[in-house]
Amino acid sequence: MFAEGARLKALHGPSAVADLSLGQPLEATAEVRAAFARAAAQDWPGRFGYLDNLGHPATRAHVAAACGLEGIPPEAVVMTCGAAGALVLALAAFCPPGGEVLGTGPYFPEFTAYARSAGGSFVALDAHPTEPLDLEALGQALSPSTAVLLLNSPNNPSGRVLTDDHYAQLAATLAAHEATTGRTVVLVVDEVYTALHYDGARSGRPFDHWPATLLVRSYSKDLGIAGERLGYLVANPALDLDQLTQRLRQLLRAYGFVNAPSTAQLAIVELGAHQVRLDPYLERRKLLAQALQGAGIEASLPDGGLYCFFDAPGGDDVSFVTAMAEQRLLFAPGVAFGQPGKVRACFSVELETLELATSILDRTHRTR
Ligand SMILES: Cc1ncc(COP(=O)(O)O)c(C=O)c1O
Repeated sequence: MFAEGARLKALHGPSAVADLSLGQPLEATAEVRAAFARAAAQDWPGRFGYLDNLGHPATRAHVAAACGLEGIPPEAVVMTCGAAGALVLALAAFCPPGGEVLGTGPYFPEFTAYARSAGGSFVALDAHPTEPLDLEALGQALSPSTAVLLLNSPNNPSGRVLTDDHYAQLAATLAAHEATTGRTVVLVVDEVYTALHYDGARSGRPFDHWPATLLVRSYSKDLGIAGERLGYLVANPALDLDQLTQRLRQLLRAYGFVNAPSTAQLAIVELGAHQVRLDPYLERRKLLAQALQGAGIEASLPDGGLYCFFDAPGGDDVSFVTAMAEQRLLFAPGVAFGQPGKVRACFSVELETLELATSILDRTHRTR
């Protein structure tokens, strides 16, 4: 879709294409830019040298204090090259060659590549029609090869969140599996959209339920700095942090990351107690849902993240997405996320793009 968007924009001009197919963040605010400028201007011996693989100590301490979880020591935090870097490291640390990373539909398509890079494979349960997690199917799918359970809340693409109830039930399922097989499944929860929950929705706290848990976070989306590649891992302090961080340190080197970008790490500290403003997202979420509903497409408001995920009119996601691309309105087909028949639309775009999307939908679906 990225290539198709670029092709159509080159052909018709950028303002003639409504590209809702990608998960680009909104533009970084002036506050974020100023923090980066201050970070870039810092000047001290070794400023541009290698740093601790795990991250600047001040950044790890800042993240530990600011991550919204109590009792997290800086030693439990590892700065990474975005959430992608964190996921690759987490899977490499816990999925042995030939092991299985179990997930659930719908899922972020890159999970497959991350599992493969660890020498394992990603296996996803079918999406449950109403629940974010099919616990019964999950219990049946766990096998002695399951090394990691990889979940995502708020979910890309569905916008659903996993609550404490889900995690409590999940922990009971994992404990039963451990009791019968002697194997501990490591839970990795991708919380890239943690700063983007809406209408009082809240994801649960996996650490309260399952000790062998790692959280994956990122500044890509909520700070609008996806190109700066900064994310982090938080390990449950119940784990052996010495052993784990030593392993992650080795993997940071082996994968060639060495360390997460230094200036971005300093900028996060410069930014201080920054709060992400939700109004631009809430406004866009509402506009997109209204545009879809106006075209007779049933679209519910997501609890978090950047996407509306709706049933493809006519039932075939690829046909619908292809037909809309001919009208210069780009969506992503659900099949890419393991849920054919659905369509993902990203509302994290300029307001003019949403206006254009609305007028295209009006023109193409007005008959209802
Ligand atoms: C669910 C999910 N995980 C991970 C990522 C990767 O994020 P990052 O840019 O921080 O590597 C994305 C990006 O779209 C995502 O949607």
